[in-house]
Amino acid sequence: MNVVKEIWVILSLVVLGSVLISAQPGTRLPKSYIVDLDLPPEQRWQKVVLDYKDMVSDVHKILITYIPEEILPYVELIATDLDNYIAQPYAGEMRGIASVMNISLGDVVMANLIYDVSAFCTSIVSQDINGQIWHSRNLDYSFTDILKNITVAIDFQHGGQTVYSIITYAGYVGVLSGQRHNAFTITVDERDQGALIWNLIIGILDSNTIPVSFLVRDTLSLDTNFTSAIDRLSYTTTAADVYFIVGGVKPGEGAVISKGRFAPDDTWMLSAKDGRWFLVETNYDHWLPPPPSDNRRDPAISAMKSLGQKNITVENLFNVMSTPKVLNSRTTYTVIMSAVKPLVMKCWIRE
Ligand SMILES: *[C@@H]1O[C@H](CO)[C@@H](O)[C@H](O)[C@H]1NC(C)=O
Ligand SMILES: *[C@@H]1O[C@H](CO)[C@@H](O)[C@H](O)[C@H]1NC(C)=O
Ligand SMILES: *[C@@H]1O[C@H](CO)[C@@H](O)[C@H](O)[C@H]1NC(C)=O
Ligand SMILES: *[C@@H]1O[C@H](CO)[C@@H](O)[C@H](O)[C@H]1NC(C)=O
Repeated sequence: MNVVKEIWVILSLVVLGSVLISAQPGTRLPKSYIVDLDLPPEQRWQKVVLDYKDMVSDVHKILITYIPEEILPYVELIATDLDNYIAQPYAGEMRGIASVMNISLGDVVMANLIYDVSAFCTSIVSQDINGQIWHSRNLDYSFTDILKNITVAIDFQHGGQTVYSIITYAGYVGVLSGQRHNAFTITVDERDQGALIWNLIIGILDSNTIPVSFLVRDTLSLDTNFTSAIDRLSYTTTAADVYFIVGGVKPGEGAVISKGRFAPDDTWMLSAKDGRWFLVETNYDHWLPPPPSDNRRDPAISAMKSLGQKNITVENLFNVMSTPKVLNSRTTYTVIMSAVKPLVMKCWIRE
């Protein structure tokens, strides 16, 4: 009887806990979907895209106005010979999205590439007193309002089992925030103004570079541990410099990779025994001071320090990500993840 009662109390606390965490004021939760990796790429995104069809077209129209006109013929070139320039499954998935939306493949390709171009963000990887690794991130973007409307949570499944989970925008096949269950978490922060769209297009046409967001998804799908994830992210050629923030499942498995196009300029690791129990990365090299006009780093560091390593919980990390400046008018969503406890992963769209 007592045991039953105890279980009941624990269950109620768990349920209550998740309700409390979900119901953060000024937020809403994204819709969740399963994308079945056992389906051909062309069929995987139908449901997601159909649910957001009109909004995704609107977003595409807006994004495309930011592309210099002289680039469009080169995008068409990529689209007409897509399999030659873009690897699977991305080529097939983009073809499927274009067909469901009944828009040109060039538009879908363009929209997918432009997401590589300008994301301002804050990412924090931290280790709690029990050695558990946590990963928090705010994704800040231009076009904030409309992107909030198409933010979705996706579980990618093989044989009915989730292999990796991401937060993304409907119609977009790459990844800026994701988790390989029981293995690692990755977020992307832009470095040095991000990719110039020109360099990205040239790199794709020369077949010597892939979009950062496709590299992240490759890592989530192909790597099974922190070390091999770090390796792939570090040494795959990208069109621009970028920061990868990576969390693992064991103490010490937390890194900020400040990557140049071909290799890291610096890899900064967690080391709790040296007092480095968290790493904050925004959009500036961590060894240089951030510009006074965009200092989200110091508020994030202060908030983590006053929280303390003993106090790491989903709710407390959410509050850190709600600190003024860290949370700003361009923040579209907040994600908290911990690869060792994959069900912790949660995203809040900021209203
Ligand atoms: C697809 O779009 C074309 C014009 O771009 C239109 O003529 C056609 O009716 C559309 N098909 C569907 C199924 O909506
Ligand atoms: C986002 O969705 C809300 C509610 O559905 C709607 O009122 C708003 O106009 C949409 N915003 C944009 C920019 O489409
Ligand atoms: C990580 O994965 C790589 C590649 O699959 C493998 O060679 C390596 O042994 C793994 N490392 C650990 C620590 O499991
Ligand atoms: C934990 O956080 C609470 C409030 O956020 C604070 O009052 C308390 O001092 C913190 N405890 C530790 C051990 O840092």
